[in-house]
Amino acid sequence: MNSYIKANLAPNKNIGLIKLYSNDDFLQMKKAGQLVAQCLNYIESFVVEGVTTNYLDKLIYDFALSKNSIPATLNYRGYPASSCISLNNVICHGIPGNKKLKEGDIINIDVTLILNGWHGDTSRMFKVGKVSRKAEILIDVTYQCLMESIRLLKPGVYTGDIGSKIQEIAESHRFSVVEDLCGHGIGQLFHDHPNILHFGKKGHGYELKEGMIFTIEPMINAGAKDIRLLADGWTIVTKDKELSAQFEHTVGITKNGFEIFSDI
Ligand code: MF3
Ligand code: CO
Ligand code: CO
Repeated sequence: MNSYIKANLAPNKNIGLIKLYSNDDFLQMKKAGQLVAQCLNYIESFVVEGVTTNYLDKLIYDFALSKNSIPATLNYRGYPASSCISLNNVICHGIPGNKKLKEGDIINIDVTLILNGWHGDTSRMFKVGKVSRKAEILIDVTYQCLMESIRLLKPGVYTGDIGSKIQEIAESHRFSVVEDLCGHGIGQLFHDHPNILHFGKKGHGYELKEGMIFTIEPMINAGAKDIRLLADGWTIVTKDKELSAQFEHTVGITKNGFEIFSDI
């Protein structure tokens, strides 16, 4: 089945084939990934009680422009900000606003920067002061879900193996995996084929091949997996109002394994 295409031969749009990128493309992705990782490193010290998420978003915007990059989310399908900032029961796509951070909040900051046409996409959890033990565990387990699934990556592995590993870890802690949103192919496009599901069965899905580039971005809920979309059309929250956590990396498949682009 012709599901894969050399990226340089493909049009710059989502054509439903999995693009395979060259070594030069990997170098470009490394630069974009490093930049967006650097952005989250920079923002970390500003995540303290009393600051608004708007303020953090403004810092991200200024950082991006100072590095000759563009926040990919800004005006993306009408999205109004340079980052997604998702607090506590917000699963993802939280729109920065006037609300002030308070002690005990857990917050995901998700940034995508376009550098020389290439997208680096990453997100991390931050804690405001001391957080509950449950929140600590949720954050640790979610990070483990991301990193353990990345460790599996090499040609011949299936996308279903990624989802299966994430689901296994999350459910062993009696947490749940959000099924309505997924990781994605990425490169000169923000969201490309294939979808990377964070649940599933080993051996299902697409076979990984050298040159593939995508994100893994598991969203793990302390309670049930069910979601609700708020009236703003973006913010996705847990239906049961329980906590949710997420980490994201942009990765590439190499001859013998993987490269994490958004790591410093
Ligand atoms: N950065 C998010 C992702 O990981 C996408 C956010 S799209 C937005 O795919 F429009 F909500 F910002
Ligand atoms: Co992201
Ligand atoms: Co993403």
